Amino acid sequence: MLAVDKDSSDYLYRQVVDLISDNIESGALMPGDRLPSLRRMSHRIGVSIPTVRQAYVELERQRRVQSRPQSGFYVRGLPTNELVRPSPAFRRSARPIPVIGRSLMDRVYDGLYTPGVVPFGIANPCMVKPAAKALHRTMKRIMARAQERSLAYAPTLGEAGLRRQIAYRYLDTVGGKIDPDNICITNGGQEALLLALQAVAGKGDVIAVESPTYHGLLELIDSLGMLAIEVETCPEEGISLSALRKTLEAHPVKACMFATTLSNPLGVSMPEEMRQELVEMLEAHGVVLIEDDVYGDLLFDGHRPKPAEFYSRSGSVLTCGSFSKTIAPGYRIGWLIAGQYIDQIVQLKRSFSCSSGLLQQLTLSEFLATGDYDRYLKTLRPELQCNAERMSAMVAQHFPRETRTSKPVGGSVIWLELPEKVDSEMLFDLAIEAGISIAPGLIFSPCNRYRNFIRLSFGHPWSRQIEEGIEWLGRNVAAIAAGN
Ligand SMILES: Cc1ncc(COP(=O)(O)O)c(C=O)c1O
Repeated sequence: MLAVDKDSSDYLYRQVVDLISDNIESGALMPGDRLPSLRRMSHRIGVSIPTVRQAYVELERQRRVQSRPQSGFYVRGLPTNELVRPSPAFRRSARPIPVIGRSLMDRVYDGLYTPGVVPFGIANPCMVKPAAKALHRTMKRIMARAQERSLAYAPTLGEAGLRRQIAYRYLDTVGGKIDPDNICITNGGQEALLLALQAVAGKGDVIAVESPTYHGLLELIDSLGMLAIEVETCPEEGISLSALRKTLEAHPVKACMFATTLSNPLGVSMPEEMRQELVEMLEAHGVVLIEDDVYGDLLFDGHRPKPAEFYSRSGSVLTCGSFSKTIAPGYRIGWLIAGQYIDQIVQLKRSFSCSSGLLQQLTLSEFLATGDYDRYLKTLRPELQCNAERMSAMVAQHFPRETRTSKPVGGSVIWLELPEKVDSEMLFDLAIEAGISIAPGLIFSPCNRYRNFIRLSFGHPWSRQIEEGIEWLGRNVAAIAAGN
């Protein structure tokens, strides 16, 4: 049968609308898929380009597809209002506590490195489209040019060219000025967080974290003998400023560790006006902010909000960045904008790790300078967005109806609230046995909240194995929820 019937009394554009809608309903076109270009579609089904355009515009009006500038038309995921977001963190107020649950974190990490597992447990966005060839080419050029110098120690503060490139990116993307000599290159974002925490706090101090928060922060707080206090978040804006105010009034908080852009696991970003309010509130209380900004470049819409750093008057905000999420986790290159703590940071960096790998720094510096980094990000973000929409659609299809799903605006993870009966630790054990890794909700809280939550990563090339993994999880969550 022909796709369109020119003898039918139905308008041709309506027939094209029906054709695309049928394909979406049958699953032949998935959320995130790009529709054929106007020219290609017109050629394929033998109708004019204006007719195809009229059909695509109608599908956009019906909110079934979305046009993206200079890119084309894409099948939409579920409209935001059809996704019920996970419930806010908790209603009871929290108190400072030592972190528990390190042994479950160990098991989660072991699971990640088991060969062949479906890797839903690791947040590794750039692996959706690895830039290995381009980076290797750059590194080869650097090795040929730098000769023996590429084997040398880097300065403790980091290679000057890379620090200048990082400072220039802040100027270029958010119009903010950073002194390259206030940037210390680190072994990934994790070392930046560690150095910052050690510079501003000591054993027994109270550190405020978002609830839920990135488990790596909790491991640091625990390793340094500090106490964590959770602050409530809201699923649209991240940290709740009113909850934070109450916490600051009631407890002797030394520092806050918050992700302002794309918190992990919620995947939300704090609006810019709230960042200013946050910094003013903390400065009024004499509390330091350690800002985790490792996902800053990965908002789907490409707009990079100003880090809280730029609202600080006193230099009491330290911002941690990294190239792990955007280009090469194995290079272990991150950075710390150290504010007034730069001297302590340099001493700490020298005593712990001397400096970070020079060859990786020279390679990244060149990758940024040539514009390759920005070009790569432009291809990475739509890929991640497409996967986010596919994963949300599959969760909606295969998980029990009561499941609530976050609506990430960037990055590579979604956060799911499962029916109450589901214990995420038990689900983790079952899934690992079936060759699937997940991040159980318990590890995102210092006191094992979020028992019926999980975090899933969509930062991998989409494949049948990924789809089967989601189907498996959905089936098993449904069985546990039904008491089977
Ligand atoms: C929120 C957050 N901060 C920091 C890090 C650590 O980054 P890196 O791999 O650069 O050490 C991660 C890594 O998962 C993360 O998710």
